[in-house]
Amino acid sequence: MQGRRVVVGISGSIAAYKACELVSRLRQRGAQVWVVMTAAARRFVGTATLRALSGRNVACEMFGAYPHHELEHISLAEFGEVMIVAPATANIIAKVAAGICDDLLTTTINAAACPVIFAPAMNWRMWNNPITQSNVKKLQELGYEFVGPEEGWLACGESRAGRLAGTEKLMAAIEKALGLEKTKLAGRRVVITAGPTREWIDAVRFISNPSSGKMGYALAEQAARRGAEVTLISGPTALQAPAGVQVVYVETAAQMAAAVQEHLLGSEVFIGAAAVADWRPRRQAEGKLKKTQGPPQLQLEPTDDIIAQVAGSAYRPSVVVGFAAETENLEHNALEKLRRKNLDLVVANDLTRPGSGFGSDTNAVMIIDRNGPRKRLDTAAKARIAAEILDVVEQLLGDQ
Ligand code: CTP
Repeated sequence: MQGRRVVVGISGSIAAYKACELVSRLRQRGAQVWVVMTAAARRFVGTATLRALSGRNVACEMFGAYPHHELEHISLAEFGEVMIVAPATANIIAKVAAGICDDLLTTTINAAACPVIFAPAMNWRMWNNPITQSNVKKLQELGYEFVGPEEGWLACGESRAGRLAGTEKLMAAIEKALGLEKTKLAGRRVVITAGPTREWIDAVRFISNPSSGKMGYALAEQAARRGAEVTLISGPTALQAPAGVQVVYVETAAQMAAAVQEHLLGSEVFIGAAAVADWRPRRQAEGKLKKTQGPPQLQLEPTDDIIAQVAGSAYRPSVVVGFAAETENLEHNALEKLRRKNLDLVVANDLTRPGSGFGSDTNAVMIIDRNGPRKRLDTAAKARIAAEILDVVEQLLGDQ
C-alpha cells in the first residue's frame, strides 16, 4: 500500500474508536491517509488521536478543511484512490442513499470519483430496519461496497448483527479496491471488445446500434484493477480509456476482427462485450449518395463473427465469454448461443427489462455456463456486474 491514497470517513458510532486501529494499520502499510470526521464522530473519539495516527490534520468542516495544508486546492473526493466509511451509521448510509450533502463527509462521498466502501456498525434493530436495508440495497446497486456488519457483542448489551467488521476484513476490502488483492487474473492477458461498430453505407452514413460501450469498459477497468494485462478493442464510444488499460480504437466489424486477431496470441481470457454489427453493406458507395438519386437499394452481407472465430482459433484463450442481448426466451437462446459459438460463459441480458442493456448505467444479467444458469444478478451498476462476471471467470481459470 506504499504511497496509496486512502480517505477514511468516520461517523458517529461507538465503534469510532476502532477506526483508530484501521488508520494506524494503513499507515504501517505505507498508505497516505486522510481522515474525515462527522460532528457526531468527534463526540466518540478525539481529532488529536486521529491527527497523530494519520500524520495529518483531520478534516471536519466544509469550509477551510485544510487551511494551511498541501491539499488546499485539491478536493478529497478527487484525490483519494479509495474511500472507506468506518464505522458507517444508519444515518450516514441513509443520507448518502438520499443524495444529501450537509457536511464534509457526505459531500466528499457524493463527489467521490473513487470506489467507496461502507463498514456499517449500529444497533441490530437499526441494521435490520427495512429502511436501512433498502438504503444498503440501493447503494449496492449503485456500485458501493459493503463490508459487514458482523454478528457479535454490541454496545447495547446484545450479541446480534451490527458489529463493525474486523480490521483485517476492512484492510482486505481496501486492498481489493486498490487492486492489490492477489487474484487469478493477476499477470494474465485479457482481451475485451466493447462498444458498437459502424458499417458505412456511403461517406456520411452508417449502420450501427445504440451500444454505449459501458459494460466492456467496466470489465476492462475491473480486470486491470485485478492485475490483468488488458487490451480493450473499442468501437466508437464517448468513454474515457480506463486507467492501466491498452485501448485499440476501431470503427468497423472488419477492423475489430483484425485487431482481435492481432492481440489474441498469449491471451488467456477473451470477453466479447462489443455489439458487433451482424451485417454490413456489400459495397460502400463512393462519396455521398444524393437524395435526388432516391433511396439506396442496400445489399447487405454478414460480418465475421469475431467471438466464434476466437473460440475456434488455434490460439483459443482458456476462457471465452460472450454476451447475449435477447428480447425473448432469454435462457434458452443464450444457452443455444453458447453452444453454437463454443463459448465457456454467456452473459445474458433481457433487453425488455428496464435498467438493463444498451446505454444504461445498470444491467440485470444471468451468467450461463455449459450446464445452464450459474448466477443471476439483479439490476446493479455495470461496475458491480463486471466484478461478478470476473469472479466467475476467475473460478473457471482456477478449475484449469
Ligand atoms: N459477436 C461477435 N461478432 C459478431 C457478432 C457478435 O463477436 N459479428 C459477439 C458479441 O460480442 C457477443 C455475442 O457475439 O458477445 C453475441 O452476439 P449476438 O449478436 O447476440 O449473437 P448472434 O449470433 O448474432 O445472434 P442473434 O441472432 O441473436 O443476433
